[in-house]
This record gives sequence, structure tokens and C-alpha cells, in this order.
Amino acid sequence: MDRLTDRIARRPGGLIGRLIYRHPAGHEASFAMMLDALHPGPEDRLLDLGCGGGVFLERVLARGASAAGLDHSPDMVAETRRRNAAALAAGRLALHQGDVARLPFGDAAFTLVTSLNAFFFFPEPQVAIAEMARVLAPGGRLGIVTTPPEQAAMLKRWFGPVAARMRLDAPDSLAGWMADAGLIPGEVKPVRQVGYLITARKPAMPASIGAEITMPGFHGRITGRLGPATAPLLVVDALVDGAIPPHAAMADELVVVLDGRLRARVGGAEHLLGPGDHLIVPAGTIHEAVAETPARLLLVGPPE
Ligand SMILES: C[S@@+](CC[C@H](N)C(=O)[O-])C[C@H]1O[C@@H](n2cnc3c(N)ncnc32)[C@H](O)[C@@H]1O
Repeated sequence: MDRLTDRIARRPGGLIGRLIYRHPAGHEASFAMMLDALHPGPEDRLLDLGCGGGVFLERVLARGASAAGLDHSPDMVAETRRRNAAALAAGRLALHQGDVARLPFGDAAFTLVTSLNAFFFFPEPQVAIAEMARVLAPGGRLGIVTTPPEQAAMLKRWFGPVAARMRLDAPDSLAGWMADAGLIPGEVKPVRQVGYLITARKPAMPASIGAEITMPGFHGRITGRLGPATAPLLVVDALVDGAIPPHAAMADELVVVLDGRLRARVGGAEHLLGPGDHLIVPAGTIHEAVAETPARLLLVGPPE
């Protein structure tokens, strides 16, 4: 049974495997919804993981994006190459045989990362999501289509014992793993015949616990996360030892001075803050600060 699962779905190969993923009719709804959710365009570089026969990649390339595909099945890589030969020759597509647990790409290499109808076969889901987050550029987005546990009976009816080889994860599990990887989970939408689509965004600044944030006059480390995964607040332990130039945040921020003295200008008003003082900086307000003595701050606000 493991051989059958591999041949038709987990590592498709041979004539039957090739034919199935040349026209995966049951996956059409997921392809359309992913394009709608991420709308790849000419400015994007998209990575599709578990790319199968490359039908989704063909649609992405038709929208002007450049792309890369990765699959651990050599026959699927060959099928994707055959289908997208012109884009490959034009240098708009790169193909790799490999495993999602060890992506052969540098950090921040893609603006969009997708995985459709394959996540249930990835043996270490948290490792896979951490790799997806790593290769996403700040501000980039991830989309995964997979099948929830409620659909186990339907899967068994259609695919028999193959269904038992699939790991069915609830959307909340994916949202939690995404948040652990420093992503901000987004919408969950049902996908006909398949399950659901979940998206996530990589903040413009790092958002995982332990990550360092360095800006002129400011060094911080994320020490905690509060609130639900879909609307997290980060807790940052920061040292201000110079001048922070004028800037505005997209959401309200709480600043508490733990030690030292800070002169801050928020929307034209000046504040001299010492240990125990706090300030709320409203969203969109231009603010700047200078340390009168090196100041240790606790900051609470959403990822940017
Ligand atoms: C059911 S097919 C889906 C193919 C395509 N994404 C689609 O929606 O038609 C699952 C694909 O994931 C690939 N795959 C499974 N586990 C993988 C892994 N650990 N690393 C890379 N690819 C994997 C398989 O080889 C297969 O091509």
C-alpha cells in the first residue's frame, strides 16, 4: 500500500503518476483560489513546493511572475520541465528535485511561497513551515492548501487506504506553526473537493521570539508574544543609546521606560521619560527619540 500511495500521490512516478498530474482535475479549484488569494504578478518570484506536474506553476508564469518549483519526485520534476519548457529556456523558471525540509535556496529569496495538496505528506510540518518562512522575503506571503481532519471519511471513501497515509491538520495547527516561524497567519477559506486554503504574511521586520531588531540608535530583541496568532502583539526588550530618526508605525505602540532617560517627540509634543514612565504612540504618528542616558525600554506592539 505504501508503494501505491507513493506511485499516485506521495512521490508520483511512472506513466500513471505522470498522467494523473498532467491534468489534476480535482485540484483545479485549489489552483484558482490560490491565484486569487496571492495574485502573483510580474514583480513576484514564487516558489511552489510539491509542485507535481507543474500545472499551477504554468498558471503563475502566465501572469508574468518568475518562479521556482521543487518536488522530491524526479518524474514530477521532469513533467514540470516538459510542460514549462519555454519559461525554463527563458530563465523565468528554476526547477529542483529536493525535499521541503531542506530547501536549496537562500534566505528571503521569494516574495510568494505556495504548497498545494502536498502538505499532508510532509513528515515534519513544523520544519517545512520554518523553511517556507526562511525563504520568504520580508513582506512576502505564504499560501498552503491542505485537508482537515473532518474530511477523513470522505478521503477514505475516494482514496481507500491511501488516505491513511495522509496527515490531516486542522487550520489552527497550521496557524500556530506559522506564528512560531514568525509569520502572521491570515484567512482560512474552504476549497471544494480538497479542504482549505490558509495564507500567512511575513512581517517587514522579524517577528519570531529571540529575533533581533537593529535600527539607528536602537537595538531590540523580541522576548514574547501576546494575543491570538492571527493578531499578535510582540514584546520587545530594547536599548536606546543614540538618536532614533523620525518614523511612523502602522499600529499603536506602548513604550515603557525601565531604566535611563529618553527624550521623545510624538506628533509635535515633547516628553522627557524616566524609569516607570510610559507612552502610547498612536498608529501613523511621526515620532522620534534621543537617549539622554542609555535607556532600556519595554515595547509592546504588532509586527510591522
Ligand atoms: C498530491 S501531489 C500534488 C501536486 C501538485 N501540487 C498539485 O496540486 O497537483 C503531492 C506532491 O508533493 C510531492 N511531495 C511529497 N512530499 C514531498 C517532500 N517531502 N518534499 C518535496 N516534495 C514532496 C510529491 O512528489 C507530489 O508531487
